[in-house]
Amino acid sequence: MTTAKQPWTAEQIPSQEGRRVLITGANSGIGFETALELARKGAEVVLPARSQQKAEDAAARIRARVPSPRVIPAILDLASQQSVVDFAAWFAHRFPGPSLDLLISNAGVMAVPKRELTVDGFERQFATNFLGPFALTALLYRHVKQQHDSRIVIVSSSITKWARIEFDNLQSERHYSPMGQAYAQSKLADSIFALELHRRVTRAGSPVAVMSAHPGYAVTNLQTSGPGDGFSLFKLSTIVLRPLLSQDAAHGALPTLFAAVSPEAVPGGYYGPDGLLEAKGYPRAVKIPKRAMQDGERLWETAERLTNTSFTV
Ligand SMILES: NC(=O)c1ccc[n+]([C@@H]2O[C@H](COP(=O)([O-])OP(=O)(O)OC[C@H]3O[C@@H](n4cnc5c(N)ncnc54)[C@H](OP(=O)(O)O)[C@@H]3O)[C@@H](O)[C@H]2O)c1
Repeated sequence: MTTAKQPWTAEQIPSQEGRRVLITGANSGIGFETALELARKGAEVVLPARSQQKAEDAAARIRARVPSPRVIPAILDLASQQSVVDFAAWFAHRFPGPSLDLLISNAGVMAVPKRELTVDGFERQFATNFLGPFALTALLYRHVKQQHDSRIVIVSSSITKWARIEFDNLQSERHYSPMGQAYAQSKLADSIFALELHRRVTRAGSPVAVMSAHPGYAVTNLQTSGPGDGFSLFKLSTIVLRPLLSQDAAHGALPTLFAAVSPEAVPGGYYGPDGLLEAKGYPRAVKIPKRAMQDGERLWETAERLTNTSFTV
């Protein structure tokens, strides 16, 4: 007799004792829930946020729910290349050599209403969601242990199905639309990066596994932090869709957690919710959008040039 497969939940996370994890954007939303569950299972969690205060607050919220967790607050602003370099230097000093079991690239910002430039002159969503994480991964790669079950997980979005990379408009200099173009492009860049990194790691014969995940539609600060307080059609649409198609941040974190720890997650795999439109539900392998399978080398070289980083696997 066959039995229906049980949904995968955080209870199935294997022990993370002895493992060091770094999660970006873990002071809020999906990243926080991911950090909480991994800390609960015994991982040491390095938790960088945009300010020491935000990182300390998140660490305190984990300490309030997990007895004796190992949480290390730090500072990182992914929209500043200098901050990425400084954080990587801090990490190298604090945890020299191969010292990282799991790197989860989760931080992001969405639907900034008007085109904004970072201190480096990049469009803010492209910088925060892709260029910063690319440079961070490049700088931290040598710290990822070259052993079985070391993983890099990149959090993308189901919006990538409708996204495309405009190589002549990466900084939205020709035209800007907050969600369908700028945010979507930055998250497609994440998916392309994940697959290209997977290819390179595999080619190099490294045992490090690279996966990506998307949370569906999880109600978090994402829907307000980028768009701000004002009215927008995008905000109205998220509110209308919310009752039917959304889930809380804890459920939104499950695909990331599955990619990060499940023995069933495979290198190069992409995980998202199993429900209607992949908006909510329990983790399963989901289809990789066609556009995520192209332009890997070109995007990699572009990111190296823009961030002045050499990323050798
Ligand atoms: N929620 C969804 O429905 C949904 C859907 C698809 C994909 N995603 C993806 O899921 C990931 C997590 O989002 P979330 O929903 O959990 O949103 P969230 O609650 O707003 O969390 C985003 C995190 O990213 C951090 N962040 C933003 N800009 C940053 C910067 N310049 N440097 C460093 N950290 C920065 C935020 O820090 P602050 O607190 O300082 O702002 C926060 O910790 C994002 O990559 C997002 O694109 C979410």
